[in-house]
Amino acid sequence: MKNIKLIQGDCLDVLKQIPNESIDCVVTDPPYKIVKGGCTNKAVRYSGTSHDELKNGTIFKNNEIQFSDWLPVLYNKVKDGSHVYIMCNDRNMRELLNVAYESGFKLLNILTWKKSKHNPNRYYLKNSEFIVMLRKGKAVNINNMGTYQVLEVNNVEKKQHPSEKPVDLMQILIENSSQEDDIVLDLFMGAGSTGVACAKTNRRFIGIEIDEKYFKIAKNRIEN
Ligand SMILES: C[S@@+](CC[C@H](N)C(=O)[O-])C[C@H]1O[C@@H](n2cnc3c(N)ncnc32)[C@H](O)[C@@H]1O
Repeated sequence: MKNIKLIQGDCLDVLKQIPNESIDCVVTDPPYKIVKGGCTNKAVRYSGTSHDELKNGTIFKNNEIQFSDWLPVLYNKVKDGSHVYIMCNDRNMRELLNVAYESGFKLLNILTWKKSKHNPNRYYLKNSEFIVMLRKGKAVNINNMGTYQVLEVNNVEKKQHPSEKPVDLMQILIENSSQEDDIVLDLFMGAGSTGVACAKTNRRFIGIEIDEKYFKIAKNRIEN
């Protein structure tokens, strides 16, 4: 496990300790506010989230962090030519893009994860999520230029985290934007799907998670 560094803590503190220009690739899934109110019991069943949490627009204990808290710092930590993937929903997209541009990143693409399940919605059922792909500095091609923008990957069946992403999805991003032994960073590791994908593909990994419960789940999954 010498290539895997898992840190339980606030990514804002941990980021400060990471040397500048040392990270080859970032794949991360930050917390953000979800729709306030108007949810149905069906929505609760799909998300595995309590009705009160959905009404308050929260899922995890820690979801107050803003893009502007960490994206400008992250810019200094990644190498020139690196790719940064950030999962995002439609409502938070504008703020994410604004902060990303202000921080110095350039937009390369907005990928879609086409899910095998949907969330109920009055304005079209939601069966996708977005992945904003940014670059710092020079433009570098992805490794498999035959990869489509829409990534069709099944949802996780037995989730250990309310927002757990499929390892196969993270693996596509990692394999396209890094080489073996490169350092991949996930600031909001949750149950550790990015770390599992790194272990499978021989990438070095730095994973940060603030919540003790999810940190333990991630550690277990990645070590096994
Ligand atoms: C959307 S989830 C990530 C889920 C993950 N992609 C997975 O597959 O399990 C976001 C995670 O960020 C964590 N988090 C929130 N604020 C944080 C902070 N300041 N530092 C580190 N982790 C934080 C939350 O506890 C939550 O587990």
